[in-house]
Amino acid sequence: MQYVEGEKEEILSCVEEVLSNSAKDRENLIPILQKVQARLGYLPTLAMEKIASGLNVPAADIFGLATFYNQFRLNPPGKHEVKVCMGTACYMVGGDIALESFERRMGIKEGETSEDRLYGLERVACVGCCTMAPVVVINEEVEGKVTPTRVDGIMLEFEDMEKKEAADKQQGEEGGSQ
Ligand code: FES
Repeated sequence: MQYVEGEKEEILSCVEEVLSNSAKDRENLIPILQKVQARLGYLPTLAMEKIASGLNVPAADIFGLATFYNQFRLNPPGKHEVKVCMGTACYMVGGDIALESFERRMGIKEGETSEDRLYGLERVACVGCCTMAPVVVINEEVEGKVTPTRVDGIMLEFEDMEKKEAADKQQGEEGGSQ
């Protein structure tokens, strides 16, 4: 995943700040990772490397830890975050089909974020709305009975949102330059 403009600087200063306010020992590694993730929204490779050198531990240990605990996310969040429920009730009625449909439409696999950071796709355990199965959570809103056709509809809504936002932005710029 490419870093966006100014992101590397932001990552480095975030890690520096977190490390300067934390005891620099190995036992403190998880709270440090949690703080960095809370600030940046994810744990970039650069942050993990910097933490490794700050704590004087091998970077491989930090990568291992971050991939072991699923509280840590290694990809930046997408602007449109889609979580597909893979609990039993949802899986039984096509949760996996909904997930595949999103993967195809977004051009990414679950657990990934698109290069332009527009879309993030994850699988999650039961979200507690089994009667609406198959369920997806879109930008924190629960949506039920998600068929592949509905996936197409959701993706069109995202595309429309983006077009509208781009048009509003352009209008704002034109207005500002008059
Ligand atoms: S299994 Fe999907 S909401 Fe319960």
